[in-house]
Amino acid sequence: MKKQAFIEHRTIMTPGPAEVDPRILQAMTNPIIGQFEPEFLALMDEVMEMGRDVLKTQNRWTYLINGTSRAGIEALLSAVIEPDDRVYVPIFGRFGHLMAEIAKRAKGNVHTTDKPLGSIYTFRELQKEIDSFHPKVVAIVHGESSTGMMQPLEELGEYCRKEGILLIVDAVATLAGAPFETDAWKIDGIAAGSQKCLAAPAGMALVSYNERIETLIAQRRKIEQGLDPKSANPRMMPSNYLDLSQLQEYWGKERLNHHTEATSMLYAMHEALRLTLEEGVNERIKRHATNMNAIIAGLEAMNLTVFGDKDNLLPTIVCVEVPENVELHKIRRELVEEFSLEIAPGFGALKDKVWRIGALGYSSRKRNVLALLTALETVLQRHHANIITGQAVPEAMKSYRH
Ligand SMILES: Cc1ncc(COP(=O)(O)O)c(C=O)c1O
Repeated sequence: MKKQAFIEHRTIMTPGPAEVDPRILQAMTNPIIGQFEPEFLALMDEVMEMGRDVLKTQNRWTYLINGTSRAGIEALLSAVIEPDDRVYVPIFGRFGHLMAEIAKRAKGNVHTTDKPLGSIYTFRELQKEIDSFHPKVVAIVHGESSTGMMQPLEELGEYCRKEGILLIVDAVATLAGAPFETDAWKIDGIAAGSQKCLAAPAGMALVSYNERIETLIAQRRKIEQGLDPKSANPRMMPSNYLDLSQLQEYWGKERLNHHTEATSMLYAMHEALRLTLEEGVNERIKRHATNMNAIIAGLEAMNLTVFGDKDNLLPTIVCVEVPENVELHKIRRELVEEFSLEIAPGFGALKDKVWRIGALGYSSRKRNVLALLTALETVLQRHHANIITGQAVPEAMKSYRH
């Protein structure tokens, strides 16, 4: 007989999945009911309404897709890209590469540019590429969790709208943790996930898109054969599971019987959005900034170096350089074993160079920040790292007082 899986509580300071708000865990214990029962449909309608408020949009089509954040990104890109469509993806870290790969799998004619890790694009750089490539779609990450950088989007949104280009944004690492304005920034389609600043488990993507994308979706509408034998469309989307023409009708008044709902995750997202609005979106964003400022103040007081361009740091995730003569994974392991605290390693070229530290959603709390700084300092000192001791927590506390 196997033992029951029992995991002790940990302090999670990674780029996600982050700690889940206990009120969300509680909501997930609601019993399963039929997904077309009126009580469940009412919850779905409330999710759409609350999703609009969190995303700051009037978009009618604001709903959830069963799957992690990339399901949302893939659904949006596959809806707007048809074979040979021109797509520009400005890359500044791992998740830009993900958007480019998804766009290529959708058979787009994909043009990419790269920036050195730890930097972002100026608007002029983006404009120059757009003017020479003339894309139908620009797909870009807002918060690059692999480098800790945030890309401003306002001018890009304005320009894409003026040029008739569709702008699709990955807001996975920023939604509800950094300022994000879907409509005011003229973003056509946005995808985010459940496991970061919304404080829910991984497994749901939140998407929203405007009439410009809705029009394209209508042109590619194709309903599953078993539900509508007459439905046919040579331009249908490549995926059935992520087909927004069907998902839209599942969330709309048609209540199309598309997939079996991940009922407990819908309860989780209902509570996650409700809690975000109860706290206030702007208040929640402020909380993330306050806690991240305290983390950075503490790390710098310890003599550690924050990676990347200081003017464009993400307020939710920071990359910190691993000091010389210290083994990245040994430190991580000791933090777990001695302090029940998790931080994450880097990706790709930064794999052995940085730790990625997140303060997301329910993990974005003062007690977690002070626990992180205390634990990291203790473990680094034990490994004879070249750090300054005794200053990190006082500097973080000073940052809170300011
Ligand atoms: C910025 C960004 N985009 C996309 C993803 C992919 O999300 P998921 O793992 O939820 O599919 C992540 C995951 O960490 C992310 O940080």
